[in-house]
Amino acid sequence: MHESFLTYRGFLFLKVAGAVGLLALALYMGHAPMEAPNGGTWLGYGLGTVSALLIFWLAWFGVRKRRYGGVKPLRGWLSAHVYLGSALLVLGTLHTGFQFGWNVHTLAYGLMLLVIASGIFGTVAYTRLPRLVTENRRRQTLEAMVAEISSLDREARQAAMSLDDTVNARVAEASERLQLGGSLWRILSGREPACRTAACVSYLEGLASKGSLGPEEGAILSTLVRLLYRKRELLQRARLDLRYQALLDIWLHIHIPATVLLIVALIVHVVAVFFFW
Ligand code: HEM
Ligand code: HEM
Repeated sequence: MHESFLTYRGFLFLKVAGAVGLLALALYMGHAPMEAPNGGTWLGYGLGTVSALLIFWLAWFGVRKRRYGGVKPLRGWLSAHVYLGSALLVLGTLHTGFQFGWNVHTLAYGLMLLVIASGIFGTVAYTRLPRLVTENRRRQTLEAMVAEISSLDREARQAAMSLDDTVNARVAEASERLQLGGSLWRILSGREPACRTAACVSYLEGLASKGSLGPEEGAILSTLVRLLYRKRELLQRARLDLRYQALLDIWLHIHIPATVLLIVALIVHVVAVFFFW
């Protein structure tokens, strides 16, 4: 669905957004108000009104999206959303006339920046990650990876039984807990520094390099190492998969609440300027 929203109809909305931004910039440059440029001049009011309408329209996308129940692709809408949303950066900024301070007006502006920045993050995620997800999965779902990991665990424990107690204990330790997921930061990092499977692999590699085992035990050890290599690789891919899923999702947890706060702050801003200015 998100594949070509950026190029939708030959970049139609990029062109529209670019034209709107340039027009606003030209008006701003040619604007010579009596006082310093600010939100209260005719151009300030104009840009403020257009920005506010744009914000309400952009927020409407959340409602619109759900109406279609995700069945009909909203490529055109998303394309317009992304480009016109970015044009807001120019319109909103010029509206303020660069008059920032510690007040609700600048709070609204800051929230607008947060929504735009998270939106840009999401756009990059939507365009880059799906390919990486597919490559990393290699036609295997996360569930299939986990299922294969547990069957490898069973095989490894079985194989370890013919070896000494320390090996058994290390292999059992590696298979006892599936070290996937955890805290948000752990998931986002896509790594597990204390991975017991990786530690077990290093231990077994050390043992194999000593060459102190007989031919039969040596063969079992190399089978064991092979099983755990595969398990380590699957774990790495599963962690990467979780990382990608989290990145595809996390920005919306900023984009949506910040939109709600932005609308509240915007209403307060407009009411404040009308009543107190
Ligand atoms: C209907 C829409 C809007 C109206 C009528 C409006 C009105 C105004 C007015 C009259 C001022 C001038 C205040 C002054 O003289 O210092 C102003 C300033 C400002 N506006 Fe708006 N505005 C609107 C939308 C927005 C939007 C969408 C944002 C950003 C999200 C925004 C952010 C600001 C900021 C940061 C200032 C500068 C405040 C300051 O001087 O300290 N406004 N606005
Ligand atoms: C102040 C400006 C903006 C507002 C108020 C806004 C608001 C919203 C809302 C309410 C949604 C629906 C989310 C949902 O219900 O799942 C949405 C989706 C989205 N926004 Fe924005 N947005 C803004 C600017 C931007 C910008 C500048 C970009 C990118 C450059 C962007 C990228 C996206 C994307 C990619 C989605 C699609 C999410 C999906 O389909 O899963 N937004 N936005």
